[in-house]
Amino acid sequence: MSIKSALWILVSITVLEVSPQELDYYSETYDDQGPLNCSTTETIKGGNVTYSEGGLEGSVMTYHCNPGKFPYPVSDRICGADGEWSPLRLPSGRLVSRPSCKDMMCPGQLQLDNGDFWPRDQWFPVGMTQSFSCHSGFSFHGSEKRNCTLSGEWTGTTPICRNHVFAASECRDPGIPPGAKRSGDRFQIGDKVTYRCQAGMHLLGSAERVCLENKEWSGSSPWCQAPQTFDTPSSVAAAMAGSLAGVMDVLSPDSKKKNVSRSFARSFLVAEVSRMNVYILLDTSGSIKKDKFELARNATIALIRKLDSYDVQLNFHVLSFASETIDIVSILDTDISGDSDWVIKTLMKFDYHSHGRKTGTNLYSALENVMNTISFLSENRNKNRFNETQNIIIIETDGYSNTGKKPEAALDRIRSLLGYSTTQHDQTHEKLLDVYVFGVGEQVNKDELNSLASKKSGERHFFVVEDFGLLGEVFNSIISDKSVTMCGIAQEDITEDQMLDGLKAYTRPWHVNLISIEWPRDKLHCTGSIVSQNWVLTAAHCFGKVNTSRVPSQLKIQYGGGEVDGSRVITHPDYNSLKLKGRNVSEFYDYDVALVETKQKIPLSWEARPICLPCTIAASRAMKKINSTCEQHREELLSQTVTTAFFIHKSRERKQTHIHLKNQRPACVEKARLTLTKPTNVSLDEYVTENFLCSGGTANYQDGISCKGDSGGSLYLQKRKRFFQVGVLSWGTINVCEIQLKMSKADARDFHIDLFKLMPWLKQHLGKDIQFLP
Ligand SMILES: *[C@@H]1O[C@H](CO)[C@@H](O)[C@H](O)[C@H]1NC(C)=O
Ligand SMILES: *[C@@H]1O[C@H](CO)[C@@H](O)[C@H](O)[C@H]1NC(C)=O
Ligand SMILES: *[C@@H]1O[C@H](CO)[C@@H](O)[C@H](O)[C@H]1NC(C)=O
Ligand SMILES: *[C@@H]1O[C@H](CO)[C@@H](O)[C@H](O)[C@H]1NC(C)=O
Ligand SMILES: *[C@@H]1O[C@H](CO)[C@@H](O)[C@H](O)[C@H]1NC(C)=O
Ligand SMILES: *[C@@H]1O[C@H](CO)[C@@H](O)[C@H](O)[C@H]1NC(C)=O
Ligand SMILES: *[C@@H]1O[C@H](CO)[C@@H](O)[C@H](O)[C@H]1NC(C)=O
Ligand SMILES: *[C@@H]1O[C@H](CO)[C@@H](O)[C@H](O)[C@H]1NC(C)=O
Ligand SMILES: *[C@@H]1O[C@H](CO)[C@@H](O)[C@H](O)[C@H]1NC(C)=O
Ligand SMILES: *[C@@H]1O[C@H](CO)[C@@H](O)[C@H](O)[C@H]1NC(C)=O
Repeated sequence: MSIKSALWILVSITVLEVSPQELDYYSETYDDQGPLNCSTTETIKGGNVTYSEGGLEGSVMTYHCNPGKFPYPVSDRICGADGEWSPLRLPSGRLVSRPSCKDMMCPGQLQLDNGDFWPRDQWFPVGMTQSFSCHSGFSFHGSEKRNCTLSGEWTGTTPICRNHVFAASECRDPGIPPGAKRSGDRFQIGDKVTYRCQAGMHLLGSAERVCLENKEWSGSSPWCQAPQTFDTPSSVAAAMAGSLAGVMDVLSPDSKKKNVSRSFARSFLVAEVSRMNVYILLDTSGSIKKDKFELARNATIALIRKLDSYDVQLNFHVLSFASETIDIVSILDTDISGDSDWVIKTLMKFDYHSHGRKTGTNLYSALENVMNTISFLSENRNKNRFNETQNIIIIETDGYSNTGKKPEAALDRIRSLLGYSTTQHDQTHEKLLDVYVFGVGEQVNKDELNSLASKKSGERHFFVVEDFGLLGEVFNSIISDKSVTMCGIAQEDITEDQMLDGLKAYTRPWHVNLISIEWPRDKLHCTGSIVSQNWVLTAAHCFGKVNTSRVPSQLKIQYGGGEVDGSRVITHPDYNSLKLKGRNVSEFYDYDVALVETKQKIPLSWEARPICLPCTIAASRAMKKINSTCEQHREELLSQTVTTAFFIHKSRERKQTHIHLKNQRPACVEKARLTLTKPTNVSLDEYVTENFLCSGGTANYQDGISCKGDSGGSLYLQKRKRFFQVGVLSWGTINVCEIQLKMSKADARDFHIDLFKLMPWLKQHLGKDIQFLP
């Protein structure tokens, strides 16, 4: 054993100079020395066993039970150097010889002040219901009945009985979670309540809360969690939406104007540009095998992309920690740390084997690295705008045995650097610091990790999820209703609930249908896009053959979740489809754009919100290009000769197409000749003017192609998870819907009015509602 480790040290010195590929090679040769293998024929009654690396030293065996059951006493065992799996130990330390699948249970409500509950049991099997009621004079809050689910969590929310009469100098009854007892039943300012959980459960959140001057309880709500239970991705996503997304909304310039933050009890950071430094700490210790690490990496990328979609200036610091800490991305390397694409690329390149055999878990060293970085930034406060930069620390760990000093010590020093006291149990006031901890798997030391996470009023910062795959799901599904004011945000996928709503509006919330009794009822006539709460952008030909301001009778705009009346129509003054009639061109669509003003404001929601228009301040923010020009927006969106874009087909699905620009444009436009049926002396350039973007065809891609009723809809691009409209769908060479074609034909082309060419007109009419670039 000692020879082996001496050999390792020798080689690991040279490892510093070799490339990652050689490291891989090295770890294989190490295994060739023929260590004793653990048995791979283990069983668990009523379940399955899997092995991460086929019983080699260090591999992990995992027990799986059917839903509603959990492996007892542990779900994972590690293969030791002696060829034996780690012992099966009860929490008491006693050894057991065989694992088993036990029934999942929910902890019962043990205490409900001023109310009754039944049955009165400490634990409830899956499927059982516990019911609650209040004494007279008290009003009921929460769920009157709660069911115990397969995951060992209750449905509904904690019951609370609150006094009808409510003294002005009191906090509200903070409630008692299932499995907990509370001491303290006075809620005057300064009064304290403390919680403890029944035997075998961990108390997460704040164990002690004080009624503060502002009549809020200090810290975060406590809850009791059994070792085998985890947070479900949906509950984590919901809690994160109320916390992390809340932070982002407070920082985002849009919400500053709108007082959104008040619901989060946070005050604004008054800064011209909102800044956030995000420190991500990834556990790469021995118990995290390659497959788990890949999942953790993917989850982290999902998180980085999610954060990047907000209008906040972000810099990332990404660390991998085992016994030692390795910088993957340093925040001080601003070229990379400020560009999420680079951060992701660098993270993708990170070699899982970088830590060699130094595979302990030293969270202290990781936090110390963060502390040193923050300390460095604090030395040049003004330049780094230190006291207007929010710091978010995100720890992802499976929490196996910890080596090194206590991680709290490093956090305390970070708090000191930011000017916060290290003795307070409540961190609601720490506007510049949020510490989120994601414990993954059942080995996490819940008490220690809970103590690291921030305790803020009404928020949650500590989560325990079952595996790294679920962590990715969590990060992907964080949504925040508070960020609805920003342009060009849509969900990529929709949840089943949203699917049941029968609408896909969540994935294209700017898209609207225009209807009027003057138009055929059975067919879609025209569509459009929400560009502000008062304006919809569409095609001029929806309203007639020439420039008109006539509003069709009973013009309605149907958006996701409702409809409003159209009150005014402004078509482009140069629009005249009959202009070339005398020269045998029956239809001509230059300047085919119109704006419709709505009678009522469109209420913003996840199903109805504006798309970003180029050359606006909001688009600059969404592109993270502060002070950029309109030309730079075009460069960002339309610089490639073949640019991938989307439109909405039959008001339902996103269809992908490609815009052909620069040297690719002539071949695309050429097909427009097919629609000139009579002899004419009109040139192609006159017919398809510079104001059109051309898409479609089958040259390199089988493009989606529009149907007749798709007119007026948006042609848009996605950048950094945000959506930008570049064109208005005007006309096409072939109406694929009539001839039942699903995809493009070689001759099929769509022509869209290029919004960049119509900026003066857009600015003239929308300038009051939308801030355009100068
Ligand atoms: C352990 O397993 C590896 C790979 O399966 C094999 O090469 C090695 O010979 C085994 N060692 C022993 C002692 O059986
Ligand atoms: C055990 O494995 C089988 C097949 O691999 C699978 O169908 C079954 O669901 C598994 N059972 C459990 C409890 O994981
Ligand atoms: C709880 O279970 C009862 C009966 O089994 C059922 O009627 C009720 O809908 C369930 N409630 C929830 C919230 O699932
Ligand atoms: C925002 O909040 C402040 C203080 O709460 C209030 O004075 C102001 O009127 C609010 N502004 C808007 C636009 O609601
Ligand atoms: C991680 O993401 C990449 C790219 O999306 C995918 O190819 C890979 O399969 C994912 N890995 C895991 C372990 O899910
Ligand atoms: C920010 O830092 C400067 C010193 O550089 C200090 O004068 C100022 O009071 C600080 N502002 C806040 C809000 O802490
Ligand atoms: C087009 O319509 C606008 C507004 O109705 C009007 O001011 C303008 O004169 C019209 N232009 C033409 C060329 O008819
Ligand atoms: C944007 O321009 C303004 C005025 O020209 C300048 O004061 C500010 O520093 C610029 N911001 C950035 C991030 O370049
Ligand atoms: C229009 O078409 C007719 C035949 O349909 C032709 O005689 C005439 O010359 C054409 N006009 C122009 C301007 O090309
Ligand atoms: C095209 O034909 C029309 C009608 O015959 C004529 O008035 C016009 O001058 C011609 N234009 C060109 C560019 O040849």
